[in-house]
Amino acid sequence: MESANRLIEYRCLNCGTGYPVDPFPYTCKDCGQNLDAIFDYSRIGSLWTKADLAADPDRSIWRYLPLLPVQSPPEIRSIQVGGTPLVEAPQLTGDYDIKRLFIKDDTRNPSGSLKDRASEVGLQHAAELGHDILVAASTGNAAASLAALAAFYGKQAIILAPASAPIAKLTQILQYGAILCPVDGTYDDAFDLAGIVAEEYGWYSRSTGINPVLTEGKKTVALEIAEQLNWVVPDKIFVPVGDGCIISGVYKGFYDLKELGWIDRLPEIIAVQASGSAAVVNVLAGGGNLESVVADTVADSIAVDFPRDGLKALRAVRNTGGFGIAVTDDEILWAQKELSEKSGIFAEPAAAAAVAGFVKARHSNQVSDNDTVILLVTGSGLKDITAAQRMLAVPAAVKPEINAFRQFYSEIRKTGLGV
Ligand SMILES: Cc1ncc(COP(=O)(O)O)c(C=O)c1O
Ligand SMILES: [Zn+2]
Repeated sequence: MESANRLIEYRCLNCGTGYPVDPFPYTCKDCGQNLDAIFDYSRIGSLWTKADLAADPDRSIWRYLPLLPVQSPPEIRSIQVGGTPLVEAPQLTGDYDIKRLFIKDDTRNPSGSLKDRASEVGLQHAAELGHDILVAASTGNAAASLAALAAFYGKQAIILAPASAPIAKLTQILQYGAILCPVDGTYDDAFDLAGIVAEEYGWYSRSTGINPVLTEGKKTVALEIAEQLNWVVPDKIFVPVGDGCIISGVYKGFYDLKELGWIDRLPEIIAVQASGSAAVVNVLAGGGNLESVVADTVADSIAVDFPRDGLKALRAVRNTGGFGIAVTDDEILWAQKELSEKSGIFAEPAAAAAVAGFVKARHSNQVSDNDTVILLVTGSGLKDITAAQRMLAVPAAVKPEINAFRQFYSEIRKTGLGV
């Protein structure tokens, strides 16, 4: 199936102006807003069935090629982006007393975050347009992801990230051989600079929040969830929101499947933000237009002043009957520990925000007993162990003697730590 036949155009979600697929438009030339990839669902549906998908041995995101805005998959794709497990979490299900609870564990991607889905499709799209150099502004994960996959595909990544990003993420970027330009400013400053750089040097822009191809990559997480649940749509899905690109991708994935007639409804999509960086939740709660905030949160990946994909994020929540919820840093760090202790999954603070949002919503009866819930865990806790360490302390060393251990163990049992 040629992409030219599957992908009709890119269309502005604000003013509706349509753009041909080639030359690739990043944003609307009329109003500057973001674009949607518009597919020909009847054509796709006539050529691709659930049975075809079930027979496909490829576990990566490329099993969904007919719904992706590129011509073909990379020839060698064994690094495997996607195909992450949907982990049922019985302890959390029991403790929070709902019908079923699943963690979509996207820490299991090559660079440890969901962003690999976008980088993978972005790199292939860039290759099809003849680009060997890609530039990205990032709070850290998109950059680490682009760096990793650019290394795999033999391309050059240029990264602009806030100098304050967690050291593990900056290390990842350099380790994979990308050029890192730490920016003395916020993520928003890095974003603006990356736009100018991409323009001046003619590089492919993998900056989240403007490039519609990246939303299409991220939507594969929703396609996987639906397939893993055998096309039975969950009731609610909690998504951490920074720029709003991931949540837009989640919406687009379920939207595509509904248009194809593979699912019969959309799940409620819930936007979770840190209360120190809650531009989207503020609009959902109070109406009005998106307004910039001064982001301040431990969850660095969702520390965003102005969400570049804010309109798409609002649409995702409003069109699915979802809601927005803000969580404090304390709630995020508590949820990070709760998730690890009750599911064996170590999430970074931004990803743990989804868990915190769920806990808060359950306590306020915004989640009902009969709900099947998905928590989207978008990035690994190993990317920012300093944050997790706020909730724990490594015990003092003991002598390598049994008496020392007895003493240690009886202390631990008294204080309750570790048992
Ligand atoms: C781990 C993680 N979670 C959530 C987000 C938020 O995604 P978005 O900015 O698309 O809303 C990011 C973005 O950097 C991330 O890295
Ligand atoms: Zn427009």
